[in-house]
Amino acid sequence: MSNSKIILTGDRPTGRLHIGHYVGSLRRRVELQNSGAFDEIYIMIADAQALTDNAENPEKVRENVVEVALDYLAAGLDPAKSTLFIQSQIPELCELTFYYMDLVTVARLQRNPTVKNEIIMRNFEASIPVGFFTYPISQAADITAFKATTVPVGEDQEPMIEQAREIVRKFNFVYGDTLVEPEILLPDNEACQRLPGTDGHAKMSKSLGNCIYLADEPDVIKKKVMSMFTDPDHIRVEDPGKLEGNTVFTYLDAFCRDEHFAAYLPDYANLDELKAHYQRGGLGDVKVKKFLNNVLQETLEPIRNRRKEYQKDIAYVYEVLKKGSEAAQAKAAQTLSEVKSAMRINYFDDAELIAAQTKKYQEQ
Ligand code: TRP
Repeated sequence: MSNSKIILTGDRPTGRLHIGHYVGSLRRRVELQNSGAFDEIYIMIADAQALTDNAENPEKVRENVVEVALDYLAAGLDPAKSTLFIQSQIPELCELTFYYMDLVTVARLQRNPTVKNEIIMRNFEASIPVGFFTYPISQAADITAFKATTVPVGEDQEPMIEQAREIVRKFNFVYGDTLVEPEILLPDNEACQRLPGTDGHAKMSKSLGNCIYLADEPDVIKKKVMSMFTDPDHIRVEDPGKLEGNTVFTYLDAFCRDEHFAAYLPDYANLDELKAHYQRGGLGDVKVKKFLNNVLQETLEPIRNRRKEYQKDIAYVYEVLKKGSEAAQAKAAQTLSEVKSAMRINYFDDAELIAAQTKKYQEQ
């Protein structure tokens, strides 16, 4: 097998992307893209997966495809270096999913922690749609169709990648070496793996209204930062403050660099010094929040500005997705053809098949 380095990753288009997506995956993708270390990079808008639990809401998924594409371009994904495409436009992914289904048991799907949690969270119980239940298999198809070696995602996707790896091993064992076993690439910093909501809630989510979006305007960002959850026991400035569960510090862990101190808070050399002062007492929340606001404004401004430029030419954005989908389909078709040969269901490409069957009947 070739030793190309290939990335595949993506997002469900159920809303605009927020800063949790940014530090959890998007920022890393852009760095990997620009590192030049990868031969091929595929970034997928997983509309078909979004439909597995939004079947009655196709308009929401449809509208958010372009929102996510705008966020991708705004964050710095470059169509000249990365193939941006829409999952539903690649029918080969459905075919692969169908064959992989034969290699996975119901019990194994039920044990997938992501599926298990989502069932509890969404109150689906036994009424969970079959498509939703089996989406780990379809995600294995997404990854293997592109022969991805590397899947940069958040920690929540770990069980999906593990299940994909199992499917690859099983397939290769049964049908011979065909598929590539992917590696997960997690964010290197803990704060980035699980950025909490502005209210301190463990997850940033649209339904909780605790997100800062990549497209938010400066005044909106500021308002959200200034009302962020900190340490509820840190009442007076003199009081010692806690860092654990303190969202403002978690965000600083995810976003701030030493240069930000030189620019906005030169009394401190780095985040460790700021944290030490906070824990000692004598440092007020407002000062820390103002600093975080500066850091976020600096980070998000270029993204928002690029987004506005692309918003002026939506036709171009769809053109990027169309071209990307064509290229992605060509790649997936190649893999599917190899899969079908390995599975011996390539009847019409196999010249020896007719000869062998002919011979069998001649000998009788
Ligand atoms: N499940 C991912 C999410 O919730 C989206 C996704 C679909 C994906 N297929 C993928 C991510 C394949 C990585 C690889 O955002």
